[in-house]
Amino acid sequence: MYKLAAIGLGQRMTSIINLLERTGKCVLAYVADPRIDGVKEEQAAAGRDISKIKFYTSAEELFENEKPDGVCVGTRCSLHAKYADMALRKGYPLFLEKPVCTTRDDLAMLERLLVEFPEECKKVTVSFPLRFTEQVLKVKQMVAEGKIGEIAHIQAWCNVSYALGYYHKWYRDDKETGGLFLQKATHDVDYITDILGAKPTLICGMTSKQVFKGDKPAGTLCRNCPDKDTCIDFTSDQGTDYRPNDGCVFAKDTGNEDSGSGIIMYDNGVHLAYSQDFISRRSAGKRGARFIGHLGTIEFDWEENYMIYHDHYGERHDIQISSKSGGHFGGDDMLAEDFLKALSGKETRCTLADGVRSAKLCLCLKESSIEKRFIEY
Ligand SMILES: NC(=O)c1ccc[n+]([C@@H]2O[C@H](COP(=O)([O-])OP(=O)(O)OC[C@H]3O[C@@H](n4cnc5c(N)ncnc54)[C@H](O)[C@@H]3O)[C@@H](O)[C@H]2O)c1
Repeated sequence: MYKLAAIGLGQRMTSIINLLERTGKCVLAYVADPRIDGVKEEQAAAGRDISKIKFYTSAEELFENEKPDGVCVGTRCSLHAKYADMALRKGYPLFLEKPVCTTRDDLAMLERLLVEFPEECKKVTVSFPLRFTEQVLKVKQMVAEGKIGEIAHIQAWCNVSYALGYYHKWYRDDKETGGLFLQKATHDVDYITDILGAKPTLICGMTSKQVFKGDKPAGTLCRNCPDKDTCIDFTSDQGTDYRPNDGCVFAKDTGNEDSGSGIIMYDNGVHLAYSQDFISRRSAGKRGARFIGHLGTIEFDWEENYMIYHDHYGERHDIQISSKSGGHFGGDDMLAEDFLKALSGKETRCTLADGVRSAKLCLCLKESSIEKRFIEY
């Protein structure tokens, strides 16, 4: 049984640890989280036997006292790189939440790890579940079989229908998230670049904020707002003291852009056009891509659960997709499987190098949008 340490046991890491434990090969043995009482309360309420877990208030203290078989980093975004550095320098197999970093300095720190600890960095699972979904695996297979010829162009979209969290919850602080390319596009540019198998060269990004802005005082919460009976985006979900979920989406301190687009040129001459928005709701939600070659086009969308192969010189084929239960269209279960590889000393399919490439692309998109110029990768 692999004894795991969780650095930051919030919502996301709890779900990942549950999946890892469900494999029957892992057990949560250690937790480092400054919010120790709250974490104990939440875990006990969720039915976990916390008497078997050793709790620490810091990762430093945990690493001084314990030798886990693997480390899972699930803090908020801005701390991922710091704890990845700590775990990899100690040689631990690592499950690392995305984005792997939110700043250029942290990117440089991770790039140093790739050079200094190349073997350890291959025993990292970066949390990119879309990579492992049936749709992406099928596109990879069909491209390898030559169904569309060489990929000549890619279009991708992400219309996030559940995005109010990026304005109501802690994610509204863009110093913490690094902005929404690092939140969402990090997944899309990862799986697309992986399928394409080419190196990014030149990046253009643009963002705008058209809806989730306004003059409400900083710190306004829905529960106290004079407009709470009429506001279309009022929420009664107050969350907890640690995680207030009802920050005003129209306040002066509402962070994050609400749409963003990027164009990425690759060294094989192909370019990707990608667009994401956080304004769409309910049935307007979409996420998917079109891979276009001389011989055919493959298009899929996770939200609408379809996949089509257009043979440019033949018929249209609707490809059956099994509707996968579980987080991220079934991708989360596969992430857990991937991390078992790392725990048994093998290389994973979604390594630190992949996480770094994606974060760097998103930082380039962000910088391009701020500086209003193309950025070289
Ligand atoms: N891969 C995915 O698809 C996916 C999905 C959801 C969230 N995420 C990522 O997961 C991360 C966590 O998100 P969440 O919603 O679970 O947040 P959360 O706030 O619920 O959890 C973060 C936890 O980290 C703890 N923490 C804070 N500072 C710490 C420190 N110095 N040392 C140790 N622990 C510390 C907090 O107390 C909290 O328990 C985010 O970076 C988010 O982007 C990824």
